[in-house]
Amino acid sequence: MSETASLRDPAEPATGRKAFYITTPIYYVTAPPSIGNAYTTVAADMIARWHRQRQQPVWFLTGTDEHGQKVLTAAADNGVSPREWADRLVETEWKPVLGVIDASNDDFIRTTEPRHTERVREFWQAIYDAGDVYEGTYEGPYCIACEEFKLPAELLPGAGGVPLCPIHERPVEQLSEVNYFFALSRYADRLLELYESHPTFVQPESARNEVVSFVRQGLQDLSISRSSFDWGIPVPWDDKHVLYVWIDALLNYATAAGFGTDPRLFARTWPADVHLVGKDILRFHAVIWPAMLMAAGVDPPRQVFAHGWLQVGGQKMSKAKATAIHPSEIVDTFGSDAYRYYFLRAIAFGSDGSFSWEHMSAVYTSELANGLGNLASRVTSMVARYFSGSLPEPGDVGPADEALAGSLAETVAAAERAMDRLALQDAVAAVEGFVGAVNGYVTEQEPWKVAKDDSPQGRLRLATILYTAAESLRAVAVLHAAVMPRASQALWERLGAADQLGPLSEQSVAEAGTWGRLAPGAAVRKGDPLFPRLEPDAPA
Ligand code: MSP
Repeated sequence: MSETASLRDPAEPATGRKAFYITTPIYYVTAPPSIGNAYTTVAADMIARWHRQRQQPVWFLTGTDEHGQKVLTAAADNGVSPREWADRLVETEWKPVLGVIDASNDDFIRTTEPRHTERVREFWQAIYDAGDVYEGTYEGPYCIACEEFKLPAELLPGAGGVPLCPIHERPVEQLSEVNYFFALSRYADRLLELYESHPTFVQPESARNEVVSFVRQGLQDLSISRSSFDWGIPVPWDDKHVLYVWIDALLNYATAAGFGTDPRLFARTWPADVHLVGKDILRFHAVIWPAMLMAAGVDPPRQVFAHGWLQVGGQKMSKAKATAIHPSEIVDTFGSDAYRYYFLRAIAFGSDGSFSWEHMSAVYTSELANGLGNLASRVTSMVARYFSGSLPEPGDVGPADEALAGSLAETVAAAERAMDRLALQDAVAAVEGFVGAVNGYVTEQEPWKVAKDDSPQGRLRLATILYTAAESLRAVAVLHAAVMPRASQALWERLGAADQLGPLSEQSVAEAGTWGRLAPGAAVRKGDPLFPRLEPDAPA
């Protein structure tokens, strides 16, 4: 949970600044988390931390999706009730993994909690009462792995003519059930108006185009209940049915934010600023979810952003294909900071990307161990050696020193612009580019040679070089804090910045670009390497 003041605190005024509200999808409790699930959480966490670093109030939600046929089947396969299964996986896997990847979520919602189930029933009862729900028969294909009613045209041909789900490449079921339907088709025009009037509602552009053309083709009404099993929230007006898992799950974003329970929290959080989702679940979020909210008279979220798939060996990683990797497998070797850095830096957010141990090791070694880690170690150890650990007062600045200060201001502006469009990799790359520039500066200025010159001018030049490099690192600690919270904190302390400027969390991104914040006299010390070199037998 984050360190920021809880928006649930009654002392927090309902009329205060609206929090930047960001969510991850809630994850099915069918199996332990994979790096695919953790990818969304890490991305959301970077965005949440960046906004906190902008000194904005933030509300960051994640959680688990616990109803439906998929969870019911997983529990049955393991010989326990779905409730026991969900409790077990949440406590032993889904909550602990947040610690493994250093997620700073403010809340964790489980769809089996009464704060959710009760509000979901009220929500759907109201839509039923308003006349947007009717009884009908659903006949057609259903993919349990997606928990989705499919259109026959989107299926892939399988062996023996059995149609396959295009995402999971597994056979779909043919359902024939008397169900309740939500009149989704009535909302097509209003949805198109929403996409038109809020061009960034669905992002990136490729996702937006897909959604707009899907809705333009006309929408079918949506089956919102299931009657062939009972693991779900009972339909409030007919308890022989349970609500379809997706229309229960989507509501988590509102129920966890106090919808119907905590008007103060809801006023400070809603509408959500960004729902981050994988592209596999885009339509649920960009079509069904806003239509549900329109039917209930609640504002839609501000943005749904779809990222790509993590692939292993050229295919979407999947538990069924045994290509799933648990985040701990990577964090145990590289640490959580490097884990976060790699996925945010190496994959363009919004596109598919591949994970490989070789690439991970290469990025770690070149950019973290030899890059930032080596720079921090060189600069802090030279201040320790040549100035007894007290940051020296710089002398007159020359073009090379000025260029670095200018490059910092540009880096902050570029990172901010990138974060505004959720081009996470560009924001990380901007900071990494600056680290490269500082490393280049130190290499070119050769302070170890200047140190041999004992004259007053020599001492002054050495002071200027080391001050310039340390002050640059002060900014890097702030700018990398959202990506690598641990290393940034360590760097902040080693530069003596905590004593002078206060906690890292209180440094604003905007001020990070102001040159000269770290004052001479700061107590600098060399610590252990920020990114230890890999053991020779590390996975490569
Ligand atoms: N329970 C639904 C979401 C309900 S939200 C109201 C669900 N859960 S899931 O556990 O199957 O997947 C959730 C998310 O995990 C995906 O949308 C995606 O964000 C992420 N990923 C799972 N596998 C992934 C990859 N291989 N690559 C990238 N992200 C992936 O869908």
